[in-house]
Amino acid sequence: MSKQRLEGKVAIVTGGASGIGAETVKTFVENGAFVVIADINDELGHQVATSIGLDKVSYHHCDVSDEKQVEETVAFALEKYGTLDIMFSNAGIGGATAMSITTTIKHAARVMVERKIRGSIICTASVAGFVAGCAGHDYTTSKHGLIGLVRSTCSELGAYGIRVNSISPSGVATPLLCRALNKDVSEVEAIGNDSANLKGITLKAGHIAEAAMFLASDESAYISGQNLVVDGGFTVVNRWLKKQAI
Ligand SMILES: NC(=O)c1ccc[n+]([C@@H]2O[C@H](COP(=O)([O-])OP(=O)(O)OC[C@H]3O[C@@H](n4cnc5c(N)ncnc54)[C@H](O)[C@@H]3O)[C@@H](O)[C@H]2O)c1
Repeated sequence: MSKQRLEGKVAIVTGGASGIGAETVKTFVENGAFVVIADINDELGHQVATSIGLDKVSYHHCDVSDEKQVEETVAFALEKYGTLDIMFSNAGIGGATAMSITTTIKHAARVMVERKIRGSIICTASVAGFVAGCAGHDYTTSKHGLIGLVRSTCSELGAYGIRVNSISPSGVATPLLCRALNKDVSEVEAIGNDSANLKGITLKAGHIAEAAMFLASDESAYISGQNLVVDGGFTVVNRWLKKQAI
């Protein structure tokens, strides 16, 4: 069998109990990684870990807004698996999230620097991180700040061989978005398909997991400071003029 893309790597996935995070845990493990799910939803977190396989996945309670818990989670990953190669800082709620991501980057980077690990830090931003009007002011401001933070930390951590990137999805029908729109999965997906630039495909959490997989793996070995937009071209197309001409 050919070498797996994350063979033997160790990752923490915050918000790994649901949606994009849970799908990413599955993808990382399928590609040979050991993963710690860091989340506040203990029941779901244990369920996801058990369903994927406790030989490869552990659940650790971690509220990312509490710096001490982030520090403890990083220590847990080191104790359990001996290293930390990938931090997927993905946990988020409908409101502001960037501050908690600062602490996940800080504690992952600290151990990577100390142990000379050429790690990959990935944050989940959003199309709301560079386009206004997609979400509320707090979420939009927070995600804009996050993309700036990724660039800023990339400038500091490059000296240690550590890469920092973000992923910006458009709408994925996860529990977060379904709750925000007060609609079920099929209704949210129908809205997304209707407004999408790229037709004939529905954006799923698995597509974001594949982007995270790329940024976590050595296939992106020289990519840092980037915001990988996964929106099928939604944010680069404006059909206003075309509509007027029709
Ligand atoms: N779904 C979308 O359309 C979309 C689009 C762009 C960006 N995002 C971003 O994707 C990320 C994941 O969201 P999702 O859509 O998969 O949502 P989700 O609700 O399915 O999953 C989020 C997970 O984060 C956990 N979480 C929430 N607060 C936490 C905290 N303080 N500490 C630890 N864990 C916490 C939740 O328990 C949950 O398991 C978020 O950062 C969100 O802003 C989502």
